Amino acid sequence: MLNIILSGAPGSGKGTQSELIVKKYGLQHLSTGELLRAEIATGSEFGKQIDALISKGNLVPDDVMLHLIDQYIDNLPTDCKGVIYDGFPRTINQARAFDELLKKRNQDALMIDLIVNEEDLIQRLLLRGEISGRSDDNLDTIKKRLVVFHERTEPQRQFYKEKNNYHSIDGNGTIEDIFSRIDTLIAAL
Ligand code: AP5
Ligand code: MG
Repeated sequence: MLNIILSGAPGSGKGTQSELIVKKYGLQHLSTGELLRAEIATGSEFGKQIDALISKGNLVPDDVMLHLIDQYIDNLPTDCKGVIYDGFPRTINQARAFDELLKKRNQDALMIDLIVNEEDLIQRLLLRGEISGRSDDNLDTIKKRLVVFHERTEPQRQFYKEKNNYHSIDGNGTIEDIFSRIDTLIAAL
């Protein structure tokens, strides 16, 4: 099993690059953001609680996320070659607990971290906000998401660095150029 964590700030291209990786390598793709937005779309009480967090740029609690991930792994197809985890883990606690979840299944994961200039991130998200309908694609919430990323998500890099499973990728430039960098890295693994 090839488990790839595609990490990076809001707007760094996790979703865009995941689609290209999936197309080329035939892996499963889990975007925890998409999973949560699908729950919101059902109109459930749980969805409403999630929406209140996401629309303000806050993270969903670790225990909720870990429960969802545990279920997801259990329901993977038996012939699954690997998974792109897009936007999970996002805290040190999630990273540690995910490591345990995978260990129990004799698996491991590596992190690919997309590094993009902050000004470009904001521009990308504002542009998408004109059409996305995402409740978090407005300037106030984008700024909050970036703060949360620096405070809560960035520190988890250290965890993967210590495991020698950390790879940073220059996420600036065209979608094709960035994919080519990722592709070279995956091909070498
Ligand atoms: P999530 O949905 O994961 O949002 P995010 O991390 O803020 O990132 P985005 O999806 O906005 O950006 P992306 O990196 O996927 O970039 P994309 O390819 O779309 O999470 C949303 C929320 O859910 C979180 O804030 C949190 O509340 C909650 N959540 C999710 N996971 C959680 C977890 N594990 N724990 C707790 N809470 C969690 O690209 C962005 C835009 O830029 C697009 O329009 C794209 O077309 C464009 N673009 C992409 N690449 C380029 C390029 N090279 N040049 C120009 N434009 C580009
Ligand atoms: Mg995304």
